[in-house]
Parts: sequence; C-alpha cells; structure tokens
Amino acid sequence: MNFERILVTGGAGFVGSHLVDALIDRGVDVVVVDNLSTGVRENLDPKAEFVKCDVRDHDAIKKVVRSGVDAVIHLAARVSVRSSVEGFLDDAQTNVLGTLTLLDAVRGSGVRKFIYASSMAVYADGIDRSPIPEIYPKGPPSPYGVAKLTCERYLELLQPSLGIRIAALRYFNVYGPRQGYTPYVGVITIFSKELLNGRPPVIFGDGEQTRDFVSVRDIVNGTLLALEADIDWDIFNIGSGRGWTVNEIARMLIERIRPGTIPESAPARPEEMLFSVADLTKSESVLGYEPKGMLEEDIDEIIEWCRERFAK
Ligand SMILES: NC(=O)c1ccc[n+]([C@@H]2O[C@H](COP(=O)([O-])OP(=O)(O)OC[C@H]3O[C@@H](n4cnc5c(N)ncnc54)[C@H](O)[C@@H]3O)[C@@H](O)[C@H]2O)c1
Repeated sequence: MNFERILVTGGAGFVGSHLVDALIDRGVDVVVVDNLSTGVRENLDPKAEFVKCDVRDHDAIKKVVRSGVDAVIHLAARVSVRSSVEGFLDDAQTNVLGTLTLLDAVRGSGVRKFIYASSMAVYADGIDRSPIPEIYPKGPPSPYGVAKLTCERYLELLQPSLGIRIAALRYFNVYGPRQGYTPYVGVITIFSKELLNGRPPVIFGDGEQTRDFVSVRDIVNGTLLALEADIDWDIFNIGSGRGWTVNEIARMLIERIRPGTIPESAPARPEEMLFSVADLTKSESVLGYEPKGMLEEDIDEIIEWCRERFAK
C-alpha cells in the first residue's frame, strides 16, 4: 500500500467497517471519523483510531486530517434514497455540505488521494436490464442522487486546484454482513428481517425493477484498487454487472427462510429507479476490478447474520 495513514469517514458503518478491516490487514494506520448516526462502534476493529465527530465539524476534521493522513476515503453519508425526498435538507447538509467541509479541510494538507463514495443513484433510469456505463445520462430521480452527483461535479471541478488525486466510485446495491437495518436501505437485509420475524416482505410496484447487487467484499476490493490507481481524476462503476429483480430476491429469501409466504405489495416509488445494472468495462480495464461475489452463494451467510442480529 502506498499510504501510511488513511482517514475513513463513515468507517463505523457497513461498507466503512469492512474497508477498515482490509486496510488494517494491509498494515495501514487507520483513523475513523463517524458520528455513529447509523454506524456502530462494535463494527470497528479496535486497532483503528476512532474520532467521534460530524464530517461537518470543520475544526475537528481539520485536526484529524493534519494528523499525518495521506489519503481519505469518504463514505460518511445519510444513505437513503427514499427518506431523502422528505428529508432533502438533512440529506444535503450531510451529503453535500459534509463533503465540501471535508474537502476544504483537506486543502493544503498532506493528503495525496481522495476516494469519494458516490452511487448508482446519479444515473437517469435505465431503459431495460442493459448495463449502464459511466457515460450514461445523469438524471437522479431522488435528492440523494442529486447530492451525490453534485459532489462528483465539485470534485471534478476542484481537483486541479486542490492538487489531490481523486476517484469517485459509483457503488451499486451493496449486500453483506453488518448492513445496518433501516426500512429504506438494503432490500436483502429488509426482506430477511421481515421473513425471520414472520412477516411478509413488501414489494413496491410490480417487483420487476432490476438492481445490481454487489458483495461488500467486491466493494472493498474496487475501492482499494481505486486508491492505488495512477490517475488524477476519474469515475468508476463498482457493481456486480448482473441484474436481479426484486421479485427474484423475494423468491430466493422466501424459499430459504419461510416457504409459502406471499409478499405484500405497495405502490411503486417514483424516486427509485426501475433498471440499474452496472457496466463494468471501464473499472475492469482501468482498475483491474473483477467482481467475485455470487449472490446465490452468499445469501445463506447474509441470512445467518440477519438471524443472529434481527430475529426476535
Ligand atoms: N450500501 C449501499 O448499497 C450503497 C450504495 C451506493 C453508495 N453507497 C455509499 O457508500 C457509503 C457507505 O454506505 P453504507 O451502506 O456503509 O452506509 P452506513 O449508513 O452503514 O454508513 C455511513 C456511515 O456514515 C456515518 N455518518 C453519517 N452521517 C455522518 C456525519 N454527518 N458525520 C460523520 N459520520 C456520519 C454513519 O454513522 C455511518 O457509520 C455512503 O456514502 C453511501 O452513500 C452505499
């Protein structure tokens, strides 16, 4: 690893805690900033230094950044497409202003690389199940996606004057152990929890909306590859490249947890995309990224984790 001390914002969260584990395994000194709004201390390797603070706290962040940090992985965010519609102000305060506060604190420091966790939520809806490349039209149907796209644009604009290498990674739907439970994020975790507690999953719309479910291990690998990549500025899709419908996910979980359950249905959500599958041509050729996770093989591990965590 080319870096000695890395700041991971949101490091007590789902993706962040797995990334922290991987960095510590590689002998990196890790400092985590997290306000524990959705993240939990138990997720964190005790070898990571932990600073409980908000990414919008300029002075606190500046102090951390000036403690010898040479790279930043910025994951801290309010992670919910659906609740960002009602809560657009809270969403923008953390997801836009938090990112800009961090960037300002990083300016003129010893930081050489900045990785930004963006999202597939920046894209306009796909036309069908065809994979979406990075150049696909943008048109986020949610405030969350608008915030992620706004930050990408700030980063691209400011990169030359900041003199820091920056990569924005558009993560698709991440699955894996430690995904926190909210009714808004992580359909696999949500459906598993409902079924484990004897309730039917609720499917929005006709259930034929298609998502790219990517293992958190692949997300970690993709992020580490981008961290090491010899590029000044770029954007990459990080997904699995495979599409699953929400109906298929429901069927797979029902079969394993509570056979015979009939899902309930609810109206489609306008802020959620119908088709969202990653085209990985660019991340494979430039970063050497190669997703390995197979949802059908990983699903039992996720169910077990949810059983330990969420079953009554
Ligand atoms: N999980 C997914 O499917 C997915 C998909 C696309 C993009 N992403 C992006 O990946 C990143 C990580 O997501 P995650 O799934 O691990 O979510 P998460 O909620 O588990 O992690 C986010 C972390 O940020 C912390 N946080 C939130 N607001 C903060 C603030 N103002 N100051 C300091 N810390 C704050 C939370 O406590 C939490 O630990 C996010 O930027 C998210 O937008 C996630």
